[in-house]
Amino acid sequence: MDQDPKRYTITAALPYTNGPVHIGHLAGVYVPADIYARYQRLQNKDVAFICGSDEHGVPITIKAKKEGITPQQVVDKYHAIIKKSFADFGISFDNYSRTSAEIHHKTASEFFKKLYEDGKFIEEVTEQLYDEEANQFLADRFIIGTCPKCGFEESYGDQCENCGTSHNATDLINPRSAISGNKPILKETKHWFLPLNEYEDFLKQWILVDHKKDWKTNVYGQCKSWIDDGLRPRAVTRDLDWGIPVPIKGAEGKVLYVWFDAPIGYISSTKEWAEREGKNWEDYWKDENTKMLHFIGKDNIVFHCIIFPAMLKAEGSYILPDNVPANEFLNLEGNKISTSKNWAVWLHEYLEDFPNQQDVLRYTLTANAPETKDNDFTWADFQARNNNELVAIFGNFINRVMVLTDKYYEGIVPNAGPFSEVDEQTLSELKAYPTVIASSLERYRFREAQGELMNVARLGNKYLADEEPWKTIKTDEERTKTVMYVALQIASALAVLSEPFLPFTSDKLKNMLNIRSNATETSLKWDDVSSKSELLNPGHKVDKAELLFSKIEDEQIQQQLDKLQASKKMNEIANKKVTSQKETIQFDDFTKLDMRVGTIIEAEKMPKANKLLVLKVDTGIDVRTIVSGIAESFKPEDIVGKKVTVLVNLAPRALRGVESQGMILMTENAEGKLVFVNPGEEGVDNGATIN
Ligand code: MF3
Ligand code: ZN
Repeated sequence: MDQDPKRYTITAALPYTNGPVHIGHLAGVYVPADIYARYQRLQNKDVAFICGSDEHGVPITIKAKKEGITPQQVVDKYHAIIKKSFADFGISFDNYSRTSAEIHHKTASEFFKKLYEDGKFIEEVTEQLYDEEANQFLADRFIIGTCPKCGFEESYGDQCENCGTSHNATDLINPRSAISGNKPILKETKHWFLPLNEYEDFLKQWILVDHKKDWKTNVYGQCKSWIDDGLRPRAVTRDLDWGIPVPIKGAEGKVLYVWFDAPIGYISSTKEWAEREGKNWEDYWKDENTKMLHFIGKDNIVFHCIIFPAMLKAEGSYILPDNVPANEFLNLEGNKISTSKNWAVWLHEYLEDFPNQQDVLRYTLTANAPETKDNDFTWADFQARNNNELVAIFGNFINRVMVLTDKYYEGIVPNAGPFSEVDEQTLSELKAYPTVIASSLERYRFREAQGELMNVARLGNKYLADEEPWKTIKTDEERTKTVMYVALQIASALAVLSEPFLPFTSDKLKNMLNIRSNATETSLKWDDVSSKSELLNPGHKVDKAELLFSKIEDEQIQQQLDKLQASKKMNEIANKKVTSQKETIQFDDFTKLDMRVGTIIEAEKMPKANKLLVLKVDTGIDVRTIVSGIAESFKPEDIVGKKVTVLVNLAPRALRGVESQGMILMTENAEGKLVFVNPGEEGVDNGATIN
């Protein structure tokens, strides 16, 4: 889009409501989308920033099964958590809807019907994978198998999380059911397919030619590889009982594929917003002068760049996205973030653990945004970014300006005398920043943009350090006034320019400077920083200073690391492979075993054997020698006097020339350390039988 667009439709991927939102989602999608939306609003642009919950699809039904509740209960629970955490985090959606909303069911059904009536689908009976035990067709995440492209053994039916390829469930090698683990059979069923192959020419032109230059290389590259591989018809319906019913005759018991209905959620959410705000939703979806952008993570690229555009094209009356600025993934402390493994920093928990520190997380996530490659979030970096950058650079500058203005002028902006060369230079550098930052933002380079914002604070710090108003105040009051005037201009520029990145800080700063939008002065806009001759007039009174950022202590960081460690432990325990049960025995088989309580009365190492201890055990019947393979777990002196369970009628056998006359029962604890099978309460005599 060359000329200035009339309005912006900015969408952020609809999060699945099978769990809360974590920092990976934020860094990849919501923070950059929010920065962009806030920036365009500050440019006086007409913006619709649209999102909502993605409440259909297999992951939600799997979650419901696991928790023993209905899918509706699952989505209600997470929709509420997600919606609230976004709002508390300052993600400034104009509308946050959900795909279970009536308006969405209606919009998606009508969209499907239109394509159906226009003959855009292929109707076909094909063989699909079916789980005979669960009595159910297996699609998407209900099926796991080996990816035909990269060989990853845990690929889902619709998409491989390892290489990102999107495929049909029947393409998987060695498929197995995610419900029962069984090998599925093939069973015939009728479905509706969107023939993506018919859109190949259109997609080639639109992506590979028209957008070759302006789309991010990771996005362009993925699209090119799919198109080069050859596009095939794609089923847009499923045999499932959770979703939007296919709105035509002969499709009973079938629903729309979640990736067919979810992106239409952007449209329904826009409609919901337009109705409430008295706007025309079609302006935001059908007018060529609207710039549409989809903010997503890299696993969503095929759906937003190939499938959804093909759907919009097939429908015929919609505009296409101008750009799809997809990010790579964020890892956490060196490991892939995982909802199911609870390896994540959850937004709603962060907000509880770090109250009123939304901007610290926003800042860190942008500073480390996985824009061109996967990146790592560490708590140590989070602490360092806060303490060394937000506190030491941004906070320090503002604090000095506020304290000195209060001390010297009781909070009144002083008159400037004649500007020195340094003043002129500083002010002209300052006025260049809106354009510099904007140019990064317009190219979706958010970390670069935020880096430039911090350079504004650095400019301020350097200016104060060089001009030293705390010294000149004793020698040259007029000069000091000019310096403080300039410093105050920098502070107010920061208040404006930080708004997209650090909205809570910007708010506080505007309050401190007494330039908040509901104050008498009209609120400052992005371009005012370069076009206005002054942002704060002499005579204007600023308010009291507040603390913008505070130091994050080691203990807080340690707590977060401990929390992660604990969830890792829990996971290991939950995922520990249990040896499968042996074949059934009869009661008589059991009674053949003679197990007694005994006490170890002597223990020594077997010479030249690392694992073996030679024990003397009082079994109550006799004192006998037992050779036990526990030398790596216990020191001989530590186990003398221990009560143990002994199998006494095991046929004797010789180990390294020593006859062992029984066996001590052992097990392993969660950490893999050997422990004795404890014979129970104190006061049990040796020789007592165990049965
Ligand atoms: N729920 C999907 C995910 O989290 C994203 C859906 S985006 C939409 O990966 F376009 F379908 F809405
Ligand atoms: Zn793969």
